[in-house]
Amino acid sequence: MWDRSRAYPQGMSIPDHELRRLATAVTGRDTASLVLEPPSRDEQERIAALVVRRAAGEPLQYLEGSVQFGPIEVLVDHRALIPRPETERVWEEAVASLREAGPGTVIVDLGTGSGALALALKHSFPEAQVYGIDISEEALALAEENAAQSGLDVTFLHGDLFEPLPKRLMGRIDLVVANPPYVTEEEFASLPPDVCDHEPRAALVSGPNGTEIVDRIADEGFWSVGIGGWIVCEIGATQGEAAHEAFFAFDREVRPDLAGRDRVLVARRGASCCV
Ligand SMILES: C[S@@+](CC[C@H](N)C(=O)[O-])C[C@H]1O[C@@H](n2cnc3c(N)ncnc32)[C@H](O)[C@@H]1O
Repeated sequence: MWDRSRAYPQGMSIPDHELRRLATAVTGRDTASLVLEPPSRDEQERIAALVVRRAAGEPLQYLEGSVQFGPIEVLVDHRALIPRPETERVWEEAVASLREAGPGTVIVDLGTGSGALALALKHSFPEAQVYGIDISEEALALAEENAAQSGLDVTFLHGDLFEPLPKRLMGRIDLVVANPPYVTEEEFASLPPDVCDHEPRAALVSGPNGTEIVDRIADEGFWSVGIGGWIVCEIGATQGEAAHEAFFAFDREVRPDLAGRDRVLVARRGASCCV
């Protein structure tokens, strides 16, 4: 029987369910198997090293090394934001909006980070041309690793929002998705330490208002998507009204999560998206 208390060096402690997840990440075995056959001495040392880092505040997912996002597994580390369950909602809304895609369909993920949304959409629409864009070269290096690991063919480009896309695509994009930075500078300081001390600040903070990047996506997106094209954008829970206003040139709707908080803006250029 595995004596889990030995995994806690120098009297450190983390919640037991986190210890079990770290043990599984190190050994590749589930808890039942670990109870029957304890981790080896070497594995116990590696688990203990992760416990020290977790107790110091590093996010559990960075220590595990990957997360499930919709249909795909995504490698995660300090180079990019950890994909959140809320953002799976963006993927779901995008799939439900676009419905089908052929070889001429163009999908763009703005602020792709680890590449999670772009790769999940390529998985859902294998024939589409999918682009992922980020201003962070470090994040894009991770996104490329994720594309290689999943075997999904996504083109990753470095730059500011729509700017690095080939000019021929302007005005003919079928779907834009984004989980942009939408935290204000003030809110950033009050985020939990495992977020604000470890995840990239530029992935979270938009500016003094929090809506700066969403506003730009609304303005620049109008000229980038084709007639009938979609924009599906994650927003902060208090930003529904501002986002609805920013997308005034589109047919649009703010959709709440199960708790009733505004989370996703679904917009369509020149055709009704909302019943
Ligand atoms: C909230 S993270 C989202 C990452 C990923 N899409 C996800 O949902 O897990 C926002 C991403 O936008 C990128 N970003 C911030 N400003 C940008 C800009 N002006 N143009 C392109 N990417 C930007 C950040 O580097 C970061 O990777």
